[in-house]
Amino acid sequence: MTSLLDGVMERRARRLVDEVGAWLPADGPVLDLGSGTGHLSARLARELGIEVVPADVTDMHVVGPRPVLIADGELPFEEDAFSAALLLFVLAYPDRPARVLAEAARVTRGPVILVQTVHAGRLGYAWLRVREFFWTTVAFHVSKLLGYVSRDARFTMRTRRFYTDARLRHELDAAGLRIRSRCERAVLPGRALVVTGWRLERDV
Ligand SMILES: C[S@@+](CC[C@H](N)C(=O)[O-])C[C@H]1O[C@@H](n2cnc3c(N)ncnc32)[C@H](O)[C@@H]1O
Repeated sequence: MTSLLDGVMERRARRLVDEVGAWLPADGPVLDLGSGTGHLSARLARELGIEVVPADVTDMHVVGPRPVLIADGELPFEEDAFSAALLLFVLAYPDRPARVLAEAARVTRGPVILVQTVHAGRLGYAWLRVREFFWTTVAFHVSKLLGYVSRDARFTMRTRRFYTDARLRHELDAAGLRIRSRCERAVLPGRALVVTGWRLERDV
């Protein structure tokens, strides 16, 4: 069963690297903020040959090094310590997402790369809620029961908000960031549900 889960997580990480890997600088260290199981950090380090530092509010890593444990909205790193920062499917959970983005920008001298699922309309919203419940809440507790993630891992993914494109942009404005490039993957037709990837820079 755990090898099945590993297969799913590896496939997911491969797709994410294909989507945003080209935005990463050739040199590290890169911060993977909200690193989860660690599959993405490990794959990036392996495929791109760069140092990737995972950081999270709990330790649920399955592969790679233990994450640096952080508090919500505070990063224990110097300014410009990283060549890039990744925030993949993280912003629905922090208390103050704009603060998390601003902290990521503070410790990063290069791009902040954000990937988030955004909805438009009722169908997209309903689908996202159901997806979030199964792929986050249920998946976490099942993984813990199976011993795939550590039994000490805390549940840190209570969804506080479901983003629309406009709401996500609002967080960027509040954090003083702007979009330099974007990519998209449709989950539902008609832009009802989209996985959106943004390469962000500080607004100067
Ligand atoms: C859905 S998982 C995504 C994991 C990984 N980024 C990926 O895409 O595979 C969300 C992650 O965000 C983390 N998280 C929750 N609140 C956070 C916060 N305030 N700061 C940083 N990470 C947080 C969770 O612990 C979890 O690891």
